[in-house]
Amino acid sequence: MKVPLLDLKAQYAGIKDEVLAAVGDVLDSQVCILGPKVEELEERIAALFDCKFGVGVSSGTDALLAALMALEIGPGDEVITTPFTFFATAGCVTRLGATPVFVDIDPRTYNMDPQLIERAITPQTKAIIPVHLFGQMCDMDPIMEIARRHNLFVIEDAAQAISSTYKGRKAGSIGTVGCFSFYPTKNLGGAGDGGMLVTNDAELNERLMVMRSHGSKPKYYHRVVGGNFRLDSLQAAILLVKLPHLEAWSEGRRRNAAIYDQELAGSPIGIPWVHADTISIYNQYVIRVQGRDELIAHLQAEQIGSEIYYPVPLHLQECFRNLGYKEGDLPESERAAHEVLALPIYPELSREQIGIVCRAVLEWVSARSTSAPEESLKHADHVTRH
Ligand SMILES: Cc1ncc(COP(=O)(O)O)c(C=O)c1O
Repeated sequence: MKVPLLDLKAQYAGIKDEVLAAVGDVLDSQVCILGPKVEELEERIAALFDCKFGVGVSSGTDALLAALMALEIGPGDEVITTPFTFFATAGCVTRLGATPVFVDIDPRTYNMDPQLIERAITPQTKAIIPVHLFGQMCDMDPIMEIARRHNLFVIEDAAQAISSTYKGRKAGSIGTVGCFSFYPTKNLGGAGDGGMLVTNDAELNERLMVMRSHGSKPKYYHRVVGGNFRLDSLQAAILLVKLPHLEAWSEGRRRNAAIYDQELAGSPIGIPWVHADTISIYNQYVIRVQGRDELIAHLQAEQIGSEIYYPVPLHLQECFRNLGYKEGDLPESERAAHEVLALPIYPELSREQIGIVCRAVLEWVSARSTSAPEESLKHADHVTRH
């Protein structure tokens, strides 16, 4: 690959010695699960993202699951969320016997459209899960206002948005609880699975800590059923090495996004739209394009990586057929699923590599507009509309 979608080896090369030393320390200590490294990470993350408490867990998925369990969401309850997200967001709701209720997205940001939330609320609604997709936060003011009026919990799925902001406030710090993922491809990624919950609610923090250890407190006494959602010390130690680099890495992604924006401006390619109130961390750089399969093939031939996040919106997934949604119900999510394509954006990308990607995309655009000018024009209209 001339330009892979992501090159984790490039990041590792810069911090290898520190990571190996941190791993060595943990192995020497033989404190393998939770322990001082996890506590240090919890404190550092909570402080950095303006929250009182952090609870290290085994993945972003388990962060969502533990949050829902601690808020006692279960059979008969409804949780409003977006269909245009990674499966875990709604999968966790269903695993607890509750029902995900999907509302469509704002096509500019790909995030849940707050204007559609209120009409989805029923007496069974217990929570809203806004997902800060691709590194850009949702429009949180109206979401919080609706939640307050209807007495709903807000679980921020900030798996893709650690350190991004909305009106100067950090992802994860606005709702009842925030959930981060340390999956290796995230801006702050571990060397395996990991996640963290953040909250300002002391009582909820207590329940989350109990929940991540099978509901046990004191040890071997269980008033509630929890799970094994504990974070490993090795992951915490590695993440502590990486944490001081997070801002520079996110800045690198923003710098790369600005280059793409400039190079692709004026073409029929839809470039990401970032709301003036938000600072994105560009966990992904997502373009919109018609004829996407052809573009992917062209990029592949040029040895350039790309990825579709996400090809099937959740309301149309086979496992959610029982929820009764059909094609056409959430048109913006469905359209996005047909048109989005993520390009390489990782911070270590060189200017030259971005140039290679942009040239390949624009070559494809010009070849396509010669062979199918009408379709190309239609697409340009669509992009302008958004
Ligand atoms: C939006 C979103 N939610 C939840 C998750 C789940 O996180 P994890 O993979 O750490 O379980 C992810 C991670 O891919 C995600 O992107």
